[in-house]
Amino acid sequence: MNALHVSPKGDFSLSIDTIASDKSISHRCAIFPLLCDEPSYIENYLHAEDTLCTLNIVQMLGADVKVREDGIMVITPPQAIVEPPCVLDCGNAGTAIRLLMGFLSSRQGYFVLYGDKYLCSRPMRRVADPLRSIGACIDGRSDGNYAPLGIRGQRLKAFHYESKISSAQVKSALILAALQADGISTFSEPELSRDHSERMLRGMGAKVLTEGLNVTIHPQRTPLKPLHVRVPSDPSSGFFFAVAAAIHEGCSITLHHMLLNPTRIEAYKVLERMGAEVCFIEKENTYESVGDICITGRALKGVVVEENIAWLIDELPALSIAFACAMGKSTVKNAEELRVKESDRISSVVKNLRLCGIEVEEFRDGYEVLGGTLRSATINSFGDHRIAMSFAIAGTKVAMHIEDVACIQTSFPNFTELLACIGVLHYGD
Ligand code: S3P
Repeated sequence: MNALHVSPKGDFSLSIDTIASDKSISHRCAIFPLLCDEPSYIENYLHAEDTLCTLNIVQMLGADVKVREDGIMVITPPQAIVEPPCVLDCGNAGTAIRLLMGFLSSRQGYFVLYGDKYLCSRPMRRVADPLRSIGACIDGRSDGNYAPLGIRGQRLKAFHYESKISSAQVKSALILAALQADGISTFSEPELSRDHSERMLRGMGAKVLTEGLNVTIHPQRTPLKPLHVRVPSDPSSGFFFAVAAAIHEGCSITLHHMLLNPTRIEAYKVLERMGAEVCFIEKENTYESVGDICITGRALKGVVVEENIAWLIDELPALSIAFACAMGKSTVKNAEELRVKESDRISSVVKNLRLCGIEVEEFRDGYEVLGGTLRSATINSFGDHRIAMSFAIAGTKVAMHIEDVACIQTSFPNFTELLACIGVLHYGD
């Protein structure tokens, strides 16, 4: 069953406390225990394809992973990283491959990272080049731009790197490398990208200092303190349901235990600017702010999205469904990074919205959507989980047939179970 048919079910008012666990934090919860010499304790780890790949790799590198009866996962690091006898499969996960490039480039041994056909066509030189400039030995197809990537661990030099792109994956890879470098390193980026690595590593005792857009990283000569983390729900996954509420006037959805990190909830604020009612209720704040998000649908109007793009990059496909249902024009600019995600998301969104009868103009770095009435269509997910889920949400407005939906398993295995509360679902080939 690789196709999903979704049609409207009627009005809803829903409270959801099972949005999938945060994918970004889960990847880091698997990798960072390798920097310790005692076990880390992780509650609510995301059991989706992407993060299970990372966990599997961490085990191949020598960690012992056990899930206790109470569901808490215990990751016991090896005394020294094991050189694995086979390749390390990152599946569809950009976060896994890029963070591991940074981590492995200073470890003794030879490591080969690869992934599925989508991951193997995503650019890696954004990480390989700065790492090579400090002594890393990394190679791959197209001069190290595409996986499979071979890495032979080397001694790394300290660096001062000004990244031209705002990417948490690049930043995190370089921070992980800097922790093993021979002096104090600095990293800066044009706009702040998500900062989970900095927060978690600081919590583990690393000297990773943030000042605006600059991060200073001191080399770490001793093992870090282990992690004790409960992974909150993923605001990027929750956002599909936020859009569902926003496009149905009078309907509401409350999302519980959500990560409220400011670099992750910008898309909810865009929905608010468009006219939806949105409120955030913080419930706790340890490494990260966590709480509830309530969204109620109201008449939506068009909006311009051109700032803090890194803070809503993953939510733009779902946001585009709200644009299509709004009065007037919505414009996305400065979002060229969308072209190198799990699919070229500018092209995937534009093509599919046109199939739904919506007028869209495509730019190099974004697109413009003229809100209107969605028409039933057969959607191509292009193997991209966020495209599949965005158009499945559109199906709660008017029937949609989405092809190639297996990719939903990469980040949100219980998505269709939750969608069935607000839409009528049929599966097919
Ligand atoms: C992620 C960072 C973002 C995001 C991705 C997860 C992370 O990518 O799109 O889904 O966990 O660090 P970039 O940092 O490449 O923009």
